[in-house]
Amino acid sequence: MSKVTVISTSLRAGSNTQRLAESLVLGAREAGHEVELISLKGKKIAYCMGCLACQQRGECVIRDDAPAITQSVLGSDAVVFVTPIYYYEMSGQMKTLIDRMNSLYPSDYRFRRVYLLSAAAEDEPGTDSRAVSGLQGWVDCFEKAELAGTLFCGGLGGPNEAAESKAALDAAYEFGKSIE
Ligand SMILES: Cc1cc2nc3c(=O)[nH]c(=O)nc-3n(C[C@H](O)[C@H](O)[C@H](O)COP(=O)(O)O)c2cc1C
Repeated sequence: MSKVTVISTSLRAGSNTQRLAESLVLGAREAGHEVELISLKGKKIAYCMGCLACQQRGECVIRDDAPAITQSVLGSDAVVFVTPIYYYEMSGQMKTLIDRMNSLYPSDYRFRRVYLLSAAAEDEPGTDSRAVSGLQGWVDCFEKAELAGTLFCGGLGGPNEAAESKAALDAAYEFGKSIE
């Protein structure tokens, strides 16, 4: 059994990726994992100021919602990032969170497997490739961890479309079940 933190980064009402994240969580729980689903919706997460105080202190000097999320990631075996594709990249809110978790860099982090679930209006292979590449860049900074899997669900443009797509919900569930 692994401790899995799922970070859902869309802020939209009727979010497709949030719905897919919920399906993924069911699959991961079915696989026996202890899963925490965190949504950035309603959270306050400021930009990283680049002061690097976190590299000495072990925590960020900005008192908002990012440090608690960072603690969850720090103590997880597996981390799943869930993002809408914005301009063929991860969402800005996901990138902002990644930067704010900079205290992880020198830490004795527990996570070993990182996953990405993304969705977009377009349904072409490779629509997620820059988001995957961006996350790979983060994972590369944590040598005990690997990017263990990605799932892209295309053809989801308007709000609540994922809820109507059995194929996407099933794919997310199976993806969750495959988490180790
Ligand atoms: C700022 C912005 C940029 C987007 N860029 C893309 C894109 O590059 N390619 C694409 O296929 N869809 C793009 N979309 C559509 C979203 O990826 C799509 O609506 C997705 O389902 C949103 O997920 P959500 O409902 O979880 O927020 C964009 C949407 C927004 C708001």
